[in-house]
Amino acid sequence: MCGIVAYIGERQAYPLLIKGLRRLEYRGYDSAGVALLNGTLNLYKQKGKVADLEKYVKDKDLKGTIGIGHTRWATHGEPNNENAHPHYSSTKRHVIIHNGIIENYAILKKELITRGYKFNSETDTEVLIHLIEDIQVKEDVDLVEAVRIALNQVIGAYAIVILSKDCPDQLIAAKKGSPLVIGVGDNEFFVASDATPIVEHTKNVVYLNDNEIAIINKNEKLKIKTIKNKNKTPYIEELEMNLEALEKGGYDHFMLKEIYEQPRSIKDSMRGRLNLKKGIVALGGIKDYEKKLANADRIIIIACGTSWHAGLVGEYLFEELARIPVEVEYASEFRYRDPIINENDVVIAISQSGETADTLAAIELAKSKGATILGICNVVGSSIARATDAGSYTHAGPEVGVASTKAFTAQITLLTLMALSVAQKKGNLKESYFRQILNELTLIPGKVQKALEADEQIKYIAGIYKDVQNMLYLGRGYNFPVALEGALKLKEISYIHAEGYPAAEMKHGPIALIDEEMPVIFIATRKGSYDKVVSNIQEVKARKGKIIAIVSEGDTTVKELADHTIEIPEVMEPLVPLVSVIPLQLLSYHIAVMRGCNVDQPRNLAKSVTVE
Ligand code: G6P
Repeated sequence: MCGIVAYIGERQAYPLLIKGLRRLEYRGYDSAGVALLNGTLNLYKQKGKVADLEKYVKDKDLKGTIGIGHTRWATHGEPNNENAHPHYSSTKRHVIIHNGIIENYAILKKELITRGYKFNSETDTEVLIHLIEDIQVKEDVDLVEAVRIALNQVIGAYAIVILSKDCPDQLIAAKKGSPLVIGVGDNEFFVASDATPIVEHTKNVVYLNDNEIAIINKNEKLKIKTIKNKNKTPYIEELEMNLEALEKGGYDHFMLKEIYEQPRSIKDSMRGRLNLKKGIVALGGIKDYEKKLANADRIIIIACGTSWHAGLVGEYLFEELARIPVEVEYASEFRYRDPIINENDVVIAISQSGETADTLAAIELAKSKGATILGICNVVGSSIARATDAGSYTHAGPEVGVASTKAFTAQITLLTLMALSVAQKKGNLKESYFRQILNELTLIPGKVQKALEADEQIKYIAGIYKDVQNMLYLGRGYNFPVALEGALKLKEISYIHAEGYPAAEMKHGPIALIDEEMPVIFIATRKGSYDKVVSNIQEVKARKGKIIAIVSEGDTTVKELADHTIEIPEVMEPLVPLVSVIPLQLLSYHIAVMRGCNVDQPRNLAKSVTVE
């Protein structure tokens, strides 16, 4: 939620900031703004996308070798020019950009109003910059000290960068709860919400920790102190990200590129972790915790959105293969309902971004009750990856499209490896079955590739259904979470109302919706409860619903009943979601494109939800 970028150095800041904002636009696109210092402090902001800001500033003074930029996902105050960041302090000497929520902003604002401050926006951010300036004057301290004192009064989450006319060679950055990375170049520094705007300029980065303030001076070393005034030594790490991964590479949209990357990303998730010859699964990141996992009374999986759907597949996998009871929880519910957690529970937190605020808070809660926490994250060095006791990265590469695709299949791949590894430790799987799954896993990238070949046919089907109002997605067993994920993909990017349901539950409600207008997508792959799903298809057909079915290669039964069938290769039951989700991702993509929707940046959504 919200993207932050800042630059200080010898180059012109504006082009660097704009490029950085385009990279961070996945975090929010309600408005964008920049502030540049070149003797005068110029601030430009505009409702809408980064492209709207670029149009707006065309004939403006954009000079300056120091500047800050922001792309917003609105929380406090509607998306308009006034609420866009950066925000000035009351004397217009300082400007601030902010990602997060200042929870006690209303009390602070009231106090500032009684002290004569005027507000130009409805944001919590403007409160913070007025507070800082007020402290600076009242207590006669320098800006860094005023920021430090102010942050001690703030409740909530923030990543901020402040630029001031008074200190033309200095940026001040601070964070708590929201991410912030500092890029360290030659006589130049970058600050950003993630490493994507930084990677093409320098691979040396410092991840700021919670409650830390960075004082960034052009010609000096980076200084870091805590809000309790303790000096810290910056720890410089090397980025592993490469630039091509951040470009569209000839595809029309990031989402399509990421769908097509899955044979590779699934392979990367398995790389070095599976030895077919020896029949071994080895997850280095969690090896010290595998015994704990194998002996766990219960596994609790916490996640949000698509990652939660991957967690549901994880439940089936861990229960079937490792015979450990699993509960899958929405992190946002879990954290607020005083859950019963014991020291013998292992919590697995799943997150693509590693920054989802609710998942982070749920981790802290489980930690405080003594549970062991393992993470499955995609973004290396992210907050969740650092908050867990141990974990495994999915290695899917940067996912830019807001609708998650390759992260989902990578998460399921890792969950499968984890469940297999625990099953092996517990010795509760027949060796032949264990090896059969292992072998099947290695075949999955090829099967996903094959499933992608149905793209043209799926596009044709998308053309028929692109104008519908509703869609129902039904599946059983391992394909039930896939039905949920298919429905989520469609509503996220095409704004068509879609619901996922266990196929048998249809009789307890959704069947009432079925008429000749209602398309129903069945995931009806052979194995599992195939015959039962066929009966459910009959029930929909009897009520004249339109049937689109995802079936296994060579299927004839469903073909006779359905209006359209999309074939995928035959896959062993526990691994079927990795392939059956592919046509659903493509279907939602094509429908959204045909409806003229912004596929990579759907309205109201953001890729990384750093507010609760
Ligand atoms: C947002 C994104 C979803 C994602 C969810 C959880 O809603 O738009 O695509 O699944 O957050 O994000 P995480 O990064 O924790 O997996």
